[in-house]
Amino acid sequence: MRTVARMWGEHGLLEASMDAVEDLVSCPSSRAALAAVAGLLGALLRDHATREERFVFEPLERRAGANAVPLVYLRMVHDVIDQLLADIPVTPDPEEAGARLRDVLALVRRHFREEEEWAFPAACAVR
Ligand SMILES: [Fe+2]
Ligand SMILES: [Fe+2]
Repeated sequence: MRTVARMWGEHGLLEASMDAVEDLVSCPSSRAALAAVAGLLGALLRDHATREERFVFEPLERRAGANAVPLVYLRMVHDVIDQLLADIPVTPDPEEAGARLRDVLALVRRHFREEEEWAFPAACAVR
């Protein structure tokens, strides 16, 4: 339960960071700045996702079964987010890199809502 609350709290912190990234992307930014931001955000999100998979998804699978919540889908989205952020530093056009970064931010926000709607309540319920 405490782990779920921590993951939920991290969503708030990460969303505050993403708000700052959105502000950066709303102004013309250099390719290097966008690459640095994508790298930092990618590391923060991967760290969160790794702990979420270990401390929320795996216990939920053990207690409620693999099909209780679409965990395969949620894990797949973690990998998609990793890949999309890794693509940004190799995107030559800064405008396109900024647009891609905005798209990833929207995907991450949607992913957080899905976890808060499906995975976290289910993890709390089976403990
Ligand atoms: Fe996640
Ligand atoms: Fe999460």
